[in-house]
Amino acid sequence: MSDKAWHDLGPVEQFRHAPVSEVKLGPLTLAITWQNGEFGAISGLCNHVGGPLGQGGLDGEYVVCPWHHWKFHCRTGLGEPGYEEDSVPSHAVKVQDGHLLISPKAQTPRRKKKHPPHPLARPVQRAAGPIRVAGISTTHMDREHPRYSTSEALLDVALEHAQSALACETRLLRLDELRIRNCEGYYSKSARACTWPCSITEMDKNDQMEQVYEVLVHWADVVLLATPIRWGASSALYYRMAERLNCVQNQITIKDTVLIRNKVAGFIIMGGQDNVQDVAGHLLGFFSELGFMFPPFPYIAHSRGWSAEDMERNNLHVQHSEELRRGARELIRRQVEFAQVLLGHRAVDEKTERGGRKAHRLDIEQA
Ligand code: FES
Repeated sequence: MSDKAWHDLGPVEQFRHAPVSEVKLGPLTLAITWQNGEFGAISGLCNHVGGPLGQGGLDGEYVVCPWHHWKFHCRTGLGEPGYEEDSVPSHAVKVQDGHLLISPKAQTPRRKKKHPPHPLARPVQRAAGPIRVAGISTTHMDREHPRYSTSEALLDVALEHAQSALACETRLLRLDELRIRNCEGYYSKSARACTWPCSITEMDKNDQMEQVYEVLVHWADVVLLATPIRWGASSALYYRMAERLNCVQNQITIKDTVLIRNKVAGFIIMGGQDNVQDVAGHLLGFFSELGFMFPPFPYIAHSRGWSAEDMERNNLHVQHSEELRRGARELIRRQVEFAQVLLGHRAVDEKTERGGRKAHRLDIEQA
């Protein structure tokens, strides 16, 4: 039945049950298609990051990769209209004596269009300069009609201190001002389907998670995250961000690549009600999985307890609490000092006076 040019894949019936079937032929992985009474065969490996085309579906005449949905013609292997320069090999098939035969030799080559690398994919290299502090506010509010946020208020105190007294560069990201798409759970399909940069970031120009990646991976030495406690857990916005950070941690798993090095995390946890230690435990666990390190006493927190339903008093308490403001300033100071130690940089004490306070100018030069 088979000679050197053709290989017998077996009775045709077994390929008529599904529009796309995956077949292994020695080193070859193939996607066999059955569409409108016609067989086709293309490589089973997607051009993007090697997704299994044979496990995908059909959209008209195009095989849809199950990982991130690139499409290739089921008989020619050409990319979908507009992306023809990205093609996977195609193979000749024929039916003989009720069996499906395939030519193992590809009749068209794999062609990969040169896609410029995403800016986030550049090597992680710390630029010289002062310690850089990123504040991440995860509270949610109507910014046109803002309310007092205890977590964001203390974050502001810490960032102001970092800038004015510790001479750091600072940036504030408010997650509720960014359009951050939900994680699509590509990791659940395969660890290799969860890519860096995130494939959502690569595919969707409107998604703004890129700003978080840029700050956390490339820019910041210190990250201070502020969250309210919502039903005993961090805010929903925090979890949306955290799920999208899976791709950062996943690089360690699949490529032994650590994107977060020598960076310091800390947290401000504010609850009208309790569960501070549970929230802190989660934050510490997750950020350590990303590669962050922690100074002594890496979080400050406040809660008046489960039965304190009088939230107005909670707000007033925080607004007038010099102890909490001092706590926020002390937390960022511990973080910045630890970042200095980790970076092996030297502090240049310029004894500058800022805002009436003697300050250490933490000017950083690469060691
Ligand atoms: S679309 Fe196929 S691997 Fe990403």
